[in-house]
Amino acid sequence: MLEVRNVKVVYNDVILVLKGISLSVAEGSIVALLGANGAGKTTTAKAVCGLLEFQDGNVTEGTIEFFGARINDCSPEDIVGRGISMVPEGRRVFVQLTVEENLKVGSYLRRDSAVRKDLEDIWQLFPSLWRRRDVKAGYLSGGEQQMLAIGRAMMSRPRLLILDEPSLGLSPRLVEEVFQVIARLNKEANMTLLIIEQNAHAAFSVARYGYIMENGRIVMDADTDRLVRDADVKEFYLGITDNTSGRKSFNQVKSYKRRKRWLS
Ligand SMILES: Nc1ncnc2c1ncn2[C@@H]1O[C@H](COP(=O)(O)OP(=O)(O)O)[C@@H](O)[C@H]1O
Ligand SMILES: [Mg+2]
Repeated sequence: MLEVRNVKVVYNDVILVLKGISLSVAEGSIVALLGANGAGKTTTAKAVCGLLEFQDGNVTEGTIEFFGARINDCSPEDIVGRGISMVPEGRRVFVQLTVEENLKVGSYLRRDSAVRKDLEDIWQLFPSLWRRRDVKAGYLSGGEQQMLAIGRAMMSRPRLLILDEPSLGLSPRLVEEVFQVIARLNKEANMTLLIIEQNAHAAFSVARYGYIMENGRIVMDADTDRLVRDADVKEFYLGITDNTSGRKSFNQVKSYKRRKRWLS
């Protein structure tokens, strides 16, 4: 469905941020893109959505294909029209608009008459939003705002939904709730999802396949049940060590810090 091949991105004509990224998302799947702050995850998402031009960024090499068609040079509107929607980092909702108004804004590109039916579907998926449909979005909790942002993106009837760090700033309980909704979107609405996360626990709870990104490169990719067992992934992204005493030895901590520095 989505094929990103050897994509390089430069900001301001000089700063090479993506150094040749390749990844693919198959229809019907949930794929995770993991990495620390500054790894280039958001840049990857923006490249796919055609949003780099607003940041003086450029795809200088490689191709991005959606259903076999090259979309590198398409406008953001064209890309939404082809079926890619993104929920940006920080779940931006219109705080002065009600929940229902926020959802209707999400369908502004649509000309068909099924908007009402889609709204019904979204109320089904997010009963808590339905209960609060007349409330201004600014009064919702972080978790509800994230669901609203997802619901709004769904209103453009995407075939691929990209979520940029949906767990950011949410309590563990709300993270679980949001990821349950993500799993339902995939199962019940048959939505294909690319989930960008630093929270590997959350991402692995729903994704079948994962890519790990460091410094503008994909450094590892595998089925998530294999990634979960990888020693480095365990240590750096899941905070687990195989040390049976349960505490890290001094040497381990030292090398951990060293690697951390090297990774960031
Ligand atoms: N508009 C921009 N201009 C220049 N550099 C940028 C811009 N946006 C991001 N960067 C840099 O690109 C790198 C990757 O950023 P980003 O894609 O936001 O990473 P992530 O989402 O993984 O945290 C960072 O070093 C960041 O400072
Ligand atoms: Mg980011």
